[in-house]
Amino acid sequence: MSMGNALQLQQALLSDEQFQTISTVVHRLCGINLHPGKKELVKARLTKRLRRLGLDDFDDYIEYVRSDPSGDELTNMLDALCTTLTHFFREEQHFDHLENQVLPELAARRDLADGKIRFWSAGCASGEEAYSMAITVAEHLPNAALWDVGILATDLSSDAIRIAQKGVYEGKCLKTVPPYLRAKYFDVTKSDLGHRYRAKNDLRSMMHFARLNLMDSWPMRGEFDVIFCRNVMIYFDKATQADLIHRFWRLLRPGGTLFTGHSESLTGIRHNFRYVRPTIYQRP
Ligand SMILES: C[S@@+](CC[C@H](N)C(=O)[O-])C[C@H]1O[C@@H](n2cnc3c(N)ncnc32)[C@H](O)[C@@H]1O
Repeated sequence: MSMGNALQLQQALLSDEQFQTISTVVHRLCGINLHPGKKELVKARLTKRLRRLGLDDFDDYIEYVRSDPSGDELTNMLDALCTTLTHFFREEQHFDHLENQVLPELAARRDLADGKIRFWSAGCASGEEAYSMAITVAEHLPNAALWDVGILATDLSSDAIRIAQKGVYEGKCLKTVPPYLRAKYFDVTKSDLGHRYRAKNDLRSMMHFARLNLMDSWPMRGEFDVIFCRNVMIYFDKATQADLIHRFWRLLRPGGTLFTGHSESLTGIRHNFRYVRPTIYQRP
């Protein structure tokens, strides 16, 4: 692309109408509510896509997305618009609750003959949440080796799922993992890019990653003991949140626990969950 083109792109305008077109598609497909305050963010993120494709303006981009029979650019567009910020042991109190309440109760209640324990990290971003669950299980589930533990980790963003599946992180990503856990559950590799930390098989063997749009139908039939859906529903409107909460309810076993993000209370949503403490709910 010529320098002149690049300069033009820096100035590419996103009209209100173009923004509306994009936000309508995004809302319809994945529930994300792009209110007008997000216009500059959308423009900045999608300008990178325009640049990559050598397109000059947003009309061309919208047309490109519409007419791409593979659907790849739609996936790229959604990837670009997803906010995948996360970190290991984010909202630490949830992992304390897993350790001190959920895991001991599961181990005490569940008959080993039905040795399945199932977790779901719904909206796992680049996987740190799911690996934090796996570390908590490995550390604190009594007789962990005797159980058939499965941790499903899903996200809309294919880029994020790719990272999650690799399970390789830069040192700075592990700063919220205590050093003794880092040493126990990650292999260190050195490359030209510096040190990298790869989750060990002890963790990976429990985990399964998949791209899944929470707005679509879900292929899982099994019941979950624990669902984490944290810092995902903030992007959805109330009706979409309510629908999701009911779907989580149906997929949880009686006694199962739902964890939401710190600013995602279920206030204003009719539901039958028992309130345990802020952002923690149990299916009775
Ligand atoms: C801010 S991150 C939260 C990550 C992690 N749960 C945490 O709390 O640290 C929000 C994630 O929700 C995902 N997301 C947004 N809409 C989604 C949808 N419709 N289906 C599945 N994932 C979605 C985004 O791709 C992003 O990775």
